[in-house]
Amino acid sequence: MSFDKHILITGGAGFIGSHVVRRMLIQYPNYLVVNLDALTYAGNLENLRDMEDLPNYRFVKGNICDAALVTTLFEENQIDTVIHLAAESHVDRSITDPLAFVQTNVMGTATLLNAARQYWGGDYAGKLFYHVSTDEVYGSLGETGFFYEDTAYDPRSPYSASKAGSDHLVMAFFHTYHLPVIISNCSNNYGPNHFPEKLIPLSIHNILQKKPLPIYGKGENVRDWLYVIDHASAIDTILHRGKIGETYNIGGHNEWTNIDLIRLLCRLMDEKLGQDTGSSEQLITYVKDRAGHDLRYAIDATKLKDELGWVPSVTFEEGLSRTIDWYLANPEWLAHVTSGDYLNYYEAQYSRR
Ligand code: NAD
Ligand code: TYD
Repeated sequence: MSFDKHILITGGAGFIGSHVVRRMLIQYPNYLVVNLDALTYAGNLENLRDMEDLPNYRFVKGNICDAALVTTLFEENQIDTVIHLAAESHVDRSITDPLAFVQTNVMGTATLLNAARQYWGGDYAGKLFYHVSTDEVYGSLGETGFFYEDTAYDPRSPYSASKAGSDHLVMAFFHTYHLPVIISNCSNNYGPNHFPEKLIPLSIHNILQKKPLPIYGKGENVRDWLYVIDHASAIDTILHRGKIGETYNIGGHNEWTNIDLIRLLCRLMDEKLGQDTGSSEQLITYVKDRAGHDLRYAIDATKLKDELGWVPSVTFEEGLSRTIDWYLANPEWLAHVTSGDYLNYYEAQYSRR
């Protein structure tokens, strides 16, 4: 079979990566998608169960830091495009284990960049290294202002510092070797397949279990939330129409303090579960603040709108409602993730092949 593009997606079994893999496979049956994922605790192949027999899809369990494996994948699959999402992604984990973040986010990105440089050998026609990054590289805002593409980097957690390091390496390969790269920096995502360690899925899970909803500090920190399926559509737009060497901010102009967000979530959960209004809110529990907790993130995504015409497709209430519906419709997914059973899926599924 011949394909119009040969794409290596890293971290495709994770939250955002699984939506990007899905979108590429569905929208572009003429693209080969090779999904390289180490299946850490955050990687879950159940996210892609209905995709795994497609003729244009290959899953490879492996580490992006493994230079020999990455080089082999480029050669065997004639990779011309990389969409790089694999990362350690949770700020709280980066506070307890920073070196894991440096290893995967910095060394892993350097390994991929170097493999692309060597395999493409300076013949960059039709090639692209697309690096998926975060708005957290810009640091923390006060009560006003936004992050723009030219905002100076000022990362403040081991997570955001390691992502900033990866962004700098991507741009260094652009300037030094002319490697064709694009970076996008996106705000906080939410939606289906989100591991229940992050604020929104953790809270949905805890409401279902009638467990406390931990709010760090006073709940006044602000995040700018984007529906993950809109992030995948923005990546698709930028992949096909973005300019080499450019950075694009992705966001939905959708700022919420954590406490207001959790109150909205509680109200929606009460409605959907047929509970008395206020039942879920009673679970809210203020806990010790996160060390170095960034106060506010807010993206200005005007460049993406003006230059490439991309805007989000759903409002926050709609996206949050769809997200809750997905968790309610997929209790098995949540049960497997919380029990650890999803870690057995790879063995069960792929040992048969
Ligand atoms: P995630 O933690 O859900 O998924 C990460 C995936 O990468 C997992 O499948 C994991 O198994 C895999 N992985 C981790 N280390 C690996 C390694 N060494 N080799 C191969 N695979 C490895 O993360 P996510 O929330 O889907 O984020 C994906 C990307 O998007 C990350 O680069 C993150 O920095 C970025 N991002 C995330 C958000 C967000 O709100 N979640 C926002 C903006 C940008
Ligand atoms: P999180 O989902 O971890 O994303 P990030 O730290 O990358 O923004 O956290 C979102 C916000 O919610 C952040 O301000 C920290 C806060 N938070 C809580 O208050 N309680 C929690 O249990 C978690 C996981 C996060």
